[in-house]
Amino acid sequence: MNVEVDFDARVDRSASHSTKYEKYAGRDILPLWVADMDFRSPEVVVKALQRRVEHGVFGYTLPPAELVAVIIERLQRLYQWQVNAEDIFFIPGVVPGLNMACRGLLAPHQAALTATPVYYPFLEAPGHQHRRLITMPVGAAAGGFRYPLQALAEHARGDAGLLLLCNPFNPVGRLLDRDELEGIAAICEAQDLWICADEVHCDLVFDDRRHIPIATLSPAIAARTVTLMAPSKTFNIAGLGGAFAIIQNPELRARFKAGGQGILPGVNLLAYEAMLAAYRDAGDWHASLLRYLQGNRDYLFRELNALPGIIMHPVEATYLAWLDVSALGLNDPAYFFESHGLGMSGGGQYGADDHMRLNFGCPRAVLEEAVARFRAALPRT
Ligand SMILES: Cc1ncc(COP(=O)(O)O)c(C=O)c1O
Repeated sequence: MNVEVDFDARVDRSASHSTKYEKYAGRDILPLWVADMDFRSPEVVVKALQRRVEHGVFGYTLPPAELVAVIIERLQRLYQWQVNAEDIFFIPGVVPGLNMACRGLLAPHQAALTATPVYYPFLEAPGHQHRRLITMPVGAAAGGFRYPLQALAEHARGDAGLLLLCNPFNPVGRLLDRDELEGIAAICEAQDLWICADEVHCDLVFDDRRHIPIATLSPAIAARTVTLMAPSKTFNIAGLGGAFAIIQNPELRARFKAGGQGILPGVNLLAYEAMLAAYRDAGDWHASLLRYLQGNRDYLFRELNALPGIIMHPVEATYLAWLDVSALGLNDPAYFFESHGLGMSGGGQYGADDHMRLNFGCPRAVLEEAVARFRAALPRT
């Protein structure tokens, strides 16, 4: 039991049209897949939404100036990153931002680069815009996955125009360190690549690590970078749809915006309210959440790595565990685990068939049940 916020509480999501729960409705399968958490959002967020709903008029809405100020203050405090109001552009989701970057920043003959395995919209976005995608597998080193700098350097010399960077890195759970980021930045600068950095998991970082937005490395890197952030993952408000891009180079900003012209809807007014309350008022809740998630991660790491045939990679950030199940030699790992009551994301959609992704943003008791099901599913040694 957490003393400050009761993350152990089980919230019934069954009647809420939840994407995560509807998939397995009526079946005894634990939903441990899509990346939202089973926790109630902070009370300050719920109250802010209630107040706004009470107003009763829901017309077209501008971004609140206070939200812009809160974001600017936060970026300065957390990353010593000085950003101006005009550098911030609100969008209804991070994934639209990835697609806008491919559409607005790549010429028809140019390709986007991305390291794999990666959150599947990275793999889809270039194709949606009739652009080519070049993938670069991450290297598994002793301390965990390392960013494939050599492959990046090789491919960047060709007709690549954009790096789609995922940091923190879903699904592999890495928080890229300064050396890796500097390596990436140097290559992008030398080969004149734009960078679209999806940093949506930047507030879900464990063991007192510090996230480094790649745009903060230098003004030259900031000038070629679109940074995508949102409170959606951290404060469990993803269903409201709200995110923002930080773009300090006016030419790049104009091209990014043009990538969404005529297609992109405005941001939902409730998302603005929730984003503001989350960033401004939910700091204590966030600190408690990180402690709880870290406990979940540690529990899962200990238990799953003690089982035969499963390797859980270290998780430095995100509430997503990346499991190597290759030793089990399964034809269809997702089906196998579902048939044992475990509803995880199959690794194939991220580019690794022999892996599974498990979302541990849930009460500990759910993970205990999951571990019991893993134990029952796996052959005894
Ligand atoms: C790396 C990453 N980017 C983007 C998203 C989704 O962002 P949005 O719902 O704002 O489009 C997710 C959700 O899992 C994610 O993991």
